[in-house]
Amino acid sequence: MTVSTIVHVGALELKNPVLSASGTYGHGLEMSNFVSPALLGGLVSKTVTRKPRPGNAPPRMAETPSGMLNSIGLENRGIEYYKKEVLPTLRGAGTRIITNIGGESVEDFAYCAELLDSESVVEALEVNLSCPNIQGAKLPFSTDANLAAAAIAAVRKATKKPVWAKLSPNVTSIGDIAKAVEAAGADAITAINTLLGMAIDWQKRLPLLSTTFGGLSGPAIKPVALRMVVECSRSVRIPIVAAGGARSADDVLEFLVAGASAVQIGTWNFVDPAAIGVIVNELPRLLRDSKIADIADLIGSLRAPTPVKFEGVEASLER
Ligand code: SIN
Repeated sequence: MTVSTIVHVGALELKNPVLSASGTYGHGLEMSNFVSPALLGGLVSKTVTRKPRPGNAPPRMAETPSGMLNSIGLENRGIEYYKKEVLPTLRGAGTRIITNIGGESVEDFAYCAELLDSESVVEALEVNLSCPNIQGAKLPFSTDANLAAAAIAAVRKATKKPVWAKLSPNVTSIGDIAKAVEAAGADAITAINTLLGMAIDWQKRLPLLSTTFGGLSGPAIKPVALRMVVECSRSVRIPIVAAGGARSADDVLEFLVAGASAVQIGTWNFVDPAAIGVIVNELPRLLRDSKIADIADLIGSLRAPTPVKFEGVEASLER
């Protein structure tokens, strides 16, 4: 049985729904010894910012059961370096290049978007509205719908490229933020970034991270990510790109059923840098086993009642 693994995120066609997640795969080619980039649906870069950033002081990573905490703080060499030194190396990678841009002001986001607009190798911009490790963990651009919309509107104005808004799980209603960025011109939503958490050394009475709080990622957050993908996909019409704890081909298919059009593999790349290739190669077999000819048929196929009921109380999950 021939199966198709092709998916679309808006107008962008991907050979399969598997993408690397920002910050877990370098800028893309660093992992070529483990997996050919041409195998993947796309590569999402580490966040690039207007100016170089040294990141937060160490320690800025801590292991947790089924996951990890990070408080990197968007360390990167800045957008000028990225344009001059990194982008030329990505030409001919044989996969879609999605550049993740970050900032601390609306102007920062717009500046990066404008500078990348003429770069043909960049096929979409993922706007990191949701890094919990800057601005005192206040997450202004992903917890305030107006600020989220302002950032996306400014990026929309600065570029013709597809704009993906990467949202935070650290909110009461991600669907409301999703609606705001959709109205501001986002072409897709990436859900979710990390969950704000912390770890403690009880003997020293100290937090393990220099910043006290950091972002939790890995398999531990997959159930949260699935729930939020469902909420987003039922709140907006634009496509959803899932991120959050996926580590297998089955996980990828779960996220598609939840409503995602593509799925990013993140923390699992640190556990096994070759896993993302194994996941891609596994997909056709899983589809064949379930007699599914086209992977796209799974997208949003969840048979859940809308609205969802919790002990008789109806939670609104609008379509
Ligand atoms: C970081 O660099 O602090 C992680 C990026 C993010 O969570 O958006």
